[in-house]
Amino acid sequence: MRKLSALMAAASVAVMAFAAQAEPIIIKFSHVVQEVGHPKGEAAKQFADRVNSELAGKVLVEVYPNSTLYDDDKALDALELGDLQMAAPSLSKFEKYTKKYRIYDLPFLFDDIAAVDRFQNGEKGIELLGAMEEQGLRGLGYWHNGMKQISANKPLVNPEDAAGLKFRVQTSDVLVAIFQELEANPQKMAFSEVYGALQQGVVDGQENTWSNIYTKKFYEVQDGTTESNHGVLDYLLVTSTDFWDNLPEDIRADLERILGEVTQEANATSTEVNEESKAKIIAAGGVVRTLTPEQKAAWRARLSPVWKQFTDDIGQDLIDAALASNQ
Ligand code: LMR
Repeated sequence: MRKLSALMAAASVAVMAFAAQAEPIIIKFSHVVQEVGHPKGEAAKQFADRVNSELAGKVLVEVYPNSTLYDDDKALDALELGDLQMAAPSLSKFEKYTKKYRIYDLPFLFDDIAAVDRFQNGEKGIELLGAMEEQGLRGLGYWHNGMKQISANKPLVNPEDAAGLKFRVQTSDVLVAIFQELEANPQKMAFSEVYGALQQGVVDGQENTWSNIYTKKFYEVQDGTTESNHGVLDYLLVTSTDFWDNLPEDIRADLERILGEVTQEANATSTEVNEESKAKIIAAGGVVRTLTPEQKAAWRARLSPVWKQFTDDIGQDLIDAALASNQ
């Protein structure tokens, strides 16, 4: 009898072990943008599709787009708590964890996304992926969106035009400083609230990429958008060190390979996606204003004091490396 129950116990342990093995590892991936026609939305979907077919039965990626699960701040908290496994917030949203990422918000630092790409793939950019290890967050790569443009409920041509207006900004003190330099009133706000805030006049304007302005229809509730290219909006593909380090080694290697391939493909098309979004805004009747070289120089000169405020946080070495990436 004792032998039988020992046998039954051993069998049930074996069944449990098999069941445990048979359960796929779930990766919940939260982001805040639309899935279709957006550089990040498409990249996240492609990553999930590839993992779910190539690692079928072993890993299941569930993507929650459009802030359906969390906004970006909450997503970072959830990563730390283990309720979420991956996210891709804008680099402006890591202020709570590191001041080094302020490099990405300095106005008129990078000439274009190609320069951002060179910086991120250089020594300093790669080093920055690990800047939040102590806080339990690991950067797995950078995903591009694009250069930021500025819009308001009145024409913005010269920097003085922004004075007195209320602007929504992402959760970054550098972005706050930029709008203070313009004598405007910056207000930090979650992405999901921007359209309503513009529509209801809670804020007068905002800054974002063409793809965000188009997919979230901000142009519908603004006088026009000025093609300022004054900053960059890019993403950190982020996970928790705890989750990533505890993955079986072969699974981690497969995920890293797929991520690398998806990143390369998505990043190569982000500029095109943004250009298409700009064309769609114009086709839909949205106003796009371009700046003369003199007007652009005036915005650049007006915002240059912001650099000094944050140089100590960022480090001159990082700024020099970023400048060198402009070639
Ligand atoms: C924003 O908050 O404006 C952006 O970070 C949203 C996004 O993910 O592109």
